[in-house]
Amino acid sequence: MIGVFDSGLGGLSVLNALVAALPNADYIYFADTANSPYGSKTEAFIQGRVLAIGDYLAGEGCSMIVVACNTATVAAIQALRTRHPDIAIVGVEPGIKPAALSSVSRKIAVLATEATAKSDRLAHLITAHAQAVSVDIVACPGWATLVEQCQLNDNNLAKDAAERLLPLLESGVDRIVLGCTHYSFLAHLLQPVIGTRATLVDVSEAIARQAVRLHQQNGRGGGSIQLLTTDQPQRLADALSLLGLHTLATRVHSVDRVAV
Ligand code: DGL
Repeated sequence: MIGVFDSGLGGLSVLNALVAALPNADYIYFADTANSPYGSKTEAFIQGRVLAIGDYLAGEGCSMIVVACNTATVAAIQALRTRHPDIAIVGVEPGIKPAALSSVSRKIAVLATEATAKSDRLAHLITAHAQAVSVDIVACPGWATLVEQCQLNDNNLAKDAAERLLPLLESGVDRIVLGCTHYSFLAHLLQPVIGTRATLVDVSEAIARQAVRLHQQNGRGGGSIQLLTTDQPQRLADALSLLGLHTLATRVHSVDRVAV
């Protein structure tokens, strides 16, 4: 069993890539919707949630946990690994390294939640992988919440996206990292602003490849998905089709609310 979690719907973009890569594994997807968004919360709060959810997924028998949230990864992956040394733990970090390696202009940008934008871990990632490159860090408050509400074509969001992206493009940025898993569902709004001037960097498929490397039990499960949320189960179930995740929807065998 593979446990995948996020503050809400964003991690479904990672689950989609995981299911494509490991179609026979069984999954629990845990959306901590009652506490979403994480991006505006303190590191201590996020760490408490990550450990509580990690304990729950361990109790459900998960042999792998994918932290499908950049904000949770930067705040608490170390603590989660220390707490569960016997479980394979995969985190999602902004794709600074692939962006820096592939940038021709040597100028990249990362779009992230407020918590990720100001985190030490992002600063370390930049020091480790992007020293020879200029990196603009752009916090995008409110974007994850609009995805939570499945408002993927919101006019104000489109305007806000253009206002944030155009100065980056004008300064020569040619790689824009999606540093929050919710933002994968906004690519259709960002892409027309960017055109051919830059490339969006999304790490979902790289995360899935990492999971394949670590997963020992492919082939044993039936490819089912159990959805869990700390808020309204029907909203989570409905979100799959609103986000265009029809293949995932066909694999769901239960949707429940849990108090964690
Ligand atoms: N999906 C999350 C991330 O990747 C967090 C969004 C939020 O809850 O603020 O950072």
